[in-house]
Amino acid sequence: MTTEQSFLIEGGNSLHGSVRCSGAKNSILPLVAAAIAVRDVVSFQNVPDISDLQSLLTLIQAMGVKVVSFIDGELVLDTRGPIETHVENTNGYSLRGTQTLVGALLGREHRAMLPSLGGCSIGARPIDLHIKGLRAMGTQFEWKDGYLIGQATALKACDVYLDFPSVGATENLLLAAALAEGTTRVFNAAQEPEVYDLISFLNKAGARIVPVFPFGFRIEGVAQLHGASHRIIGDRIEASTLMVATAITQGEVTITGIDARHIWSIIAKLRETGAMVEVEGDDAVVVKGVPEYRSTDIRTLTFPGYATDAQPPMTAYLTLARGNSVVVESIFENRFGAILELERMGARIKVSEETAIIEGVESLNSATVQAKDLRGGAALVLAGLAAHGTTTVKSIQHIDRGYEALESKLFQLGAHVTRVTQPEA
Ligand code: EPZ
Repeated sequence: MTTEQSFLIEGGNSLHGSVRCSGAKNSILPLVAAAIAVRDVVSFQNVPDISDLQSLLTLIQAMGVKVVSFIDGELVLDTRGPIETHVENTNGYSLRGTQTLVGALLGREHRAMLPSLGGCSIGARPIDLHIKGLRAMGTQFEWKDGYLIGQATALKACDVYLDFPSVGATENLLLAAALAEGTTRVFNAAQEPEVYDLISFLNKAGARIVPVFPFGFRIEGVAQLHGASHRIIGDRIEASTLMVATAITQGEVTITGIDARHIWSIIAKLRETGAMVEVEGDDAVVVKGVPEYRSTDIRTLTFPGYATDAQPPMTAYLTLARGNSVVVESIFENRFGAILELERMGARIKVSEETAIIEGVESLNSATVQAKDLRGGAALVLAGLAAHGTTTVKSIQHIDRGYEALESKLFQLGAHVTRVTQPEA
C-alpha cells in the first residue's frame, strides 16, 4: 500500500513569536555543484535539510563524491576522488537543481553527460542559454538517447551575452569560466543573491570573479581551486513565505536569519497592502498584519524585482485583500498552478495567460486541496492558515523539496498544522 503525506491545517490562528529562516535552497544546490569543481574538501554552514538537497547528494554520491557529514546544518563534502561525469538521475527525480553540474563538470573534467533537465510543472525550463554560453567557451554539445553530452578539449575565455539574465545559465558560466584559460566576461548576467553567494564561495576557493557594471561578471580563470568553508545566506523565499503567513493571519512575527536587502520587493508589497514591516538590525524583519488589508499589484521580474518564487504566496494573500489585485507572472509560463485550488476555497481569480486578476473576498473556506509544485503548495498552506475550518493540503512532498520542516516553524508560531500520512487515494 502506498502512502502520501498531507498537512492538516486548522485555520483562524494568528501567528506570533520569532522564527529563524533556514539557509537558501537556491544557494546550496549550485554550491554543491561548485564543490565538484573545487576538487577538495569543502564545508557549508546554515544548510537546509530539504529533499531537493538530499536528492542531489544521493546523485553526486553515485558520481564519486564523498558526503563526509551533514550534521546541524553543516555539510562537508570531499570531491578529491575521481568523479563520474555521467550523471544518472537514479531516483527518477526530475531535479532542476542538477543543472549547475554541467558547468562544474565541464570546468573540472571538460565533459558532462546529464539526463534531460527540462520541464517541470511551472514551465518548459529550457537550457538554450546555458548551451549557447558554454558553446561559446568551446563546448561541443549533442543530445544522445535523451542525454545531453557536453565535451570540450579546453574551455576558452570569451565574452558571453545572455539574452535573458538566467540564474542557472549565469551560474553554469561562472563555474566553467572559473577554471577556463583566460578571462571570461558575462554580460546581462543574473543578479540574484544566490549568484553572489556562489561567487563568494568560489572566490574563497581561489577563483577570481568580480562584478562588472552593468549586470556583468569578469572571471579570470585559474588552473585549480582549493577547499573552503562558507556559510550560506538565508532563504529569501522561505522568509517571504513566513512574512506572508504572518500578514494573512494578522499576526506579529520576527523572522531572523535573513538579509533585508534580499527581500525589499516583498517588504514594499506587504507595506502597500497596509501590513507593517520593520527591518531589525542586519538579519531580521518584523511583520505585523492588519485585520483589513488593501489590494496591490505585482509583476514578477528578475532580482531586484519581485521574485517569481514569492508570487504564489502573495497571490494567496491577495485573495483576502479589500479590492482587486493584478498579478503578472513574467518569468515562468505556468506558475498559477495553485489558483484552481484557491478557487475551490472560495477565492475569486480570473487568469488570462500571464495575468491573474484577483477580486478580494471576505473569507476562504477550508477544503481538501492538492499541492502541484513547491511554491504553489506553500500558497495553499497560507490559504489554509487563514481559512475557516480545517484544510487538508495533499502531496506535500512538493513543499518538502524547498522548505525545511515548514510545519514545525509554523507550529512554533502558534499555527495548528500537523503532518499526517494517509493511504494514497
Ligand atoms: C532558478 O531557476 C531557481 N532555481 C528558481 O527557483 C527560480 O524561480 C529561478 O531561478 C528564477 O529566479 C534554482 O536556483 C535551483 P532561470 P532557473 O534560468 O535557473 C528561461 C524555486 O521555486 N530560460 O533564471 O531554472 C526560463 O524558462 C525555483 O525555488 C530560458 O529561456 O531559472 C524561465 O522562463 C523555481 N533559457 C526564465 O528564463 C535558458 O537557458 C528564468 O529561468 C534558461 C532559462
